[in-house]
Amino acid sequence: MFETWLTRTLGISVPLVGAPMGGRAGGVLAGEVTRAGGLGLIGAARYNTPEWLEAEVRTARDIGDGPVGFGLMTWSLADDDSLLAAVLEHRPQVVALSFGDPAPYVDRVHEAGALVISQINTLDDLRVVEAAGVDAVVAQGHEAGGHTGRVGTLPLLQEVLESTSLPVLAAGGIATGRGLAAVLAAGAQGAFVGTALLASPETVGPVYARTKIVDATSADTVYTDVFDRARHQPWPSRWGGRALVNAFTERWHGRDESEDILAEAYTGDDPDIGVVYAGQAVGSVRAERPAGDVIREIAVQAEALLSRFR
Ligand SMILES: Cc1cc2nc3c(=O)[nH]c(=O)nc-3n(C[C@H](O)[C@H](O)[C@H](O)COP(=O)(O)O)c2cc1C
Repeated sequence: MFETWLTRTLGISVPLVGAPMGGRAGGVLAGEVTRAGGLGLIGAARYNTPEWLEAEVRTARDIGDGPVGFGLMTWSLADDDSLLAAVLEHRPQVVALSFGDPAPYVDRVHEAGALVISQINTLDDLRVVEAAGVDAVVAQGHEAGGHTGRVGTLPLLQEVLESTSLPVLAAGGIATGRGLAAVLAAGAQGAFVGTALLASPETVGPVYARTKIVDATSADTVYTDVFDRARHQPWPSRWGGRALVNAFTERWHGRDESEDILAEAYTGDDPDIGVVYAGQAVGSVRAERPAGDVIREIAVQAEALLSRFR
């Protein structure tokens, strides 16, 4: 179907990566993305145990019969990099190291036989990850769900493609074949998709999140740090998170309250208050559909659109 650096290097048929999403993308989701021809990544968060990682990667491999990998938040490894060691024990094909300088970790990942792919948000980030020796970069735009930077996907993708000889993928706002076709036509080797998968039954996390994803429009997200502060997550301030607006963001976003006050007002069990990270592409997610169907449909539509020009 498609042939790009990503598909050739990993032996996959679809140039799509199931984005690493901490708290939402476990082994079932990653396995289904791989089974549909893409690359599934498990989102590893700081609170995940080695036992959890082992169970999730075993599940992904049982389902997927193809490459799997993990995504880690680079800044969170500075104090304690045992999560990386636990990940590498499972010999993943890819480790995504995003949000921070991956230089201290790239050799270890390569020695374990995996590729390093880093999501970046600025041209300065590009220079940092190039110097660190990563194998590919992902231009992740402001539209993306979860933590992201402040430059939109297309402006960032264009300048990154013009500025590096590394393989470049795109992330942020890609949820249909139209989006995949657009970034492939621009020169990307593939795309990370996160939000497109968030209504799939294979995601983990609260059930209310899937309903809210289906109901939301592209105008219903906000770029905010209130959830990090309410949950005492020590994200560096340059990265906010894109989430669905809800009663909590209506009340607290943009207000200069202390973490303790926000924490007291926050409860993840309440569907009107709990965070649902999602990107602007949420408007294209209209039903709870199996992840494999989502991946296959994006690929088929992109192929049809691009074949118009052959
Ligand atoms: C719920 C959620 C959790 C995320 N968690 C992580 C994470 O743990 N690590 C990471 O590198 N990126 C994370 N991201 C960002 C994704 O890797 C990816 O960049 C993003 O989903 C792409 O944009 P899209 O949501 O528009 O497809 C997360 C995104 C979402 C929606």
